[in-house]
Amino acid sequence: MRGIVFTELMEMVEQIYGYELVDELLQEVRPASKGSYTSVGNYPHQELVNLLIRLSGKVDKSVEELMTIYGQHLFQVFAKGYPAFFEDDLDAFTFLAGIENKIHPEVRKLYPDAELPRFNILNHDSKELIMDYSSERRMSSFALGLINGCFDHFNERATVKMDKLDESGARVRFTINRGA
Ligand code: HEM
Repeated sequence: MRGIVFTELMEMVEQIYGYELVDELLQEVRPASKGSYTSVGNYPHQELVNLLIRLSGKVDKSVEELMTIYGQHLFQVFAKGYPAFFEDDLDAFTFLAGIENKIHPEVRKLYPDAELPRFNILNHDSKELIMDYSSERRMSSFALGLINGCFDHFNERATVKMDKLDESGARVRFTINRGA
């Protein structure tokens, strides 16, 4: 996975729990990079999972909860880091409906080796957005966090329902309705 996903996780853990915990995590997970992640590097996806599993054991939150918190945090970082994606006067639904055909393809142009999920839009009207997530990395909880972060960014409210479409969690349906 892209280095930014690692550097920002470490930053967030430091902000919330302090540097000592970051240090402990790195001591325990012992990543091949020795934890000196750079935003332009590329690191194994499993390493991210290992860091989250260890963190989960220390802070009394499930890996899924941590992924959601982290996704919500990361959206703000993306919004600052990629202002070109926010130039059109968009609302949260239109932005989310464009991840598959606009945003992630641009990400892929910048980083041809990016490991991205697929989203399929089943309904998009003024009240409801239904999108199916699929990825063998099974990071739908992270997607939930990014979706929440997106509503924060646009200062809109929504309720998000998540339904597994298979046992493994590789395919998940998001049903998003406007309003809290
Ligand atoms: C400006 C907005 C966005 C940018 C720049 C962006 C970019 C990226 C990047 C760089 C990665 C990591 C790829 C890798 O490590 O190889 C990623 C992964 C991912 N993105 Fe986006 N993204 C954006 C918005 C979103 C939103 C709103 C969602 C949710 C609907 C989303 C869902 C995901 C998921 C779930 C992954 C993890 C990989 C997987 O599940 O297979 N992204 N994105």
